[in-house]
Amino acid sequence: MTRDTTSDRGRDPDGEDAAEPLPDGGTAAGDDETTLDPWGSATVADYRKLFEDFGIEAFDEILAEVPDPHYLMRRGVIFGHRDYRKVAEAMATGEPFAALSGFMPTGDPHIGHKLVFDEIIWHQQQGGDAYALIADLEANSARGMTWDEIDEHARDYLLSLLALGFDPEEGELYRQSDNRELQDLGFELGESANFSELENIYGFDGETSVSHMQSVVTQMADILYPQLDEPKPTVIPVGPDQDPHVRLARDLAARTQFFGVTKAYASFEADADEREHLAAAYGALSEDTDEPVRCEDAADWLEAEMAPDDARERVAAKLREAGKEPLRPRVRFLDRNATDEAFEALIDAVDGEKRVFDEHVDSFELSREAAEELSREVELDHGGYGFVAPSSIYHRFMTGLTGGKMSSSVPASHISLLDDPEDGYEKVKAATTGGRETAEKQRELGGQADECPVYELYAYLLAGDDDEFAKRVYDECVDGERLCGDCKEQAAELMREFLADHQEKRAEVQELLEAADIDLDSDRART
Ligand code: TRP
Ligand code: SF4
Repeated sequence: MTRDTTSDRGRDPDGEDAAEPLPDGGTAAGDDETTLDPWGSATVADYRKLFEDFGIEAFDEILAEVPDPHYLMRRGVIFGHRDYRKVAEAMATGEPFAALSGFMPTGDPHIGHKLVFDEIIWHQQQGGDAYALIADLEANSARGMTWDEIDEHARDYLLSLLALGFDPEEGELYRQSDNRELQDLGFELGESANFSELENIYGFDGETSVSHMQSVVTQMADILYPQLDEPKPTVIPVGPDQDPHVRLARDLAARTQFFGVTKAYASFEADADEREHLAAAYGALSEDTDEPVRCEDAADWLEAEMAPDDARERVAAKLREAGKEPLRPRVRFLDRNATDEAFEALIDAVDGEKRVFDEHVDSFELSREAAEELSREVELDHGGYGFVAPSSIYHRFMTGLTGGKMSSSVPASHISLLDDPEDGYEKVKAATTGGRETAEKQRELGGQADECPVYELYAYLLAGDDDEFAKRVYDECVDGERLCGDCKEQAAELMREFLADHQEKRAEVQELLEAADIDLDSDRART
């Protein structure tokens, strides 16, 4: 059903918790598959596959560009991103940026959600505009939650978010159902998406309710909402299961643009593959001469030097048609949704040498970045949104304490932020480990921290910002100096302390929540 997967597992109404836990801690299906299904069983067998199969980029490649990175970034828990560089840049240079994520209020907030809470809060502390939303329309339409359940869970999510440090005066909290501006934006974005596309991306079919589809455009609006005041780089911290939403939102943002900006080499249009050939021909031919490079010479060169493929044939034909026209690199502004006035204004605004065509303008002097900025300015001046493509960061899913997936329907597998601290202690004590059968073997071979849910607890949560502590646990484990009994006792005590402290803070922020501008009593019909 879902095309966005490497396997063919259907959607499951129970969502993230669909796969039955097996006694050995494995899951009934999908352990070696990688699927990205926002309402199905998101399974990531191999995070590296997400880079190859889905085009998510590795986070460690931009880590050095992030000012004072969060420990989840430093430890590789945040493992991937799309286009995060521009958020990091804004952060470094003090330009505006935003962070937004959303929560479906389907159960108790647990330590997996804490990762996202922390990510939003950290971006807020770095100077970003921070947004957290309750995805109540989605919970109602895609998960069948009643409004009473939604209200109760929404309160719990928000209390934990505030207790962890979200500043509601600086940031914004909202619920989808109560945000008129958001829904208007969703309506507008929905004009650029159709059913076939949702079918392809999400596996929707004739049985999918219209409200569920509406919750998709609502999420698209969520993702772009921080830019309604003013376009700015915006990061969406989520699990990789949400990537299909991020990609669609990036596409829709581009579709609303007045102008598309591309690179071009001659008056004709060329696709990305054709442009590669053009770049190669231009590079080679312009090297040895100051004379203009003619299109027909580039065609000769391509046919002599490049392996034949479809793109080469297509572009060679176009080059022959263009004949003696000089080949010259340029940036092109394509008229996508611009009004006539906006198009005229753009033409005026392009400084330096340019050529004006019916549906595009070519500039020979602007860089691509400058061209994008200029088109955004003109768009904003003429009543457009001017959206910057949204960015995302992806965190790893935590392993369940009982092995296999962490699942909110298996209480022993996860720790709720509302768990009694004693229960939290007990759950950690009972957790599966990456330890060896005997203490002797453990001393000899070392433990398997990389496969240990208890080690994950340290790295993701219990060690907090203290990298040295996390590293010490790891090293002592793999060197055989740490035995699981003591290690779990230490983790269990830290968990008890964390929960007690967190719950105390939740009580303290009650008033903040009452004062915040968010209504937690739906007056919807009980359907
Ligand atoms: N679909 C998300 C989930 O399943 C919730 C969500 C709604 C969201 N809107 C969002 C997440 C915007 C990030 C950004 O949990
Ligand atoms: Fe896990 Fe700790 Fe045992 Fe290592 S010593 S395997 S980290 S419980």
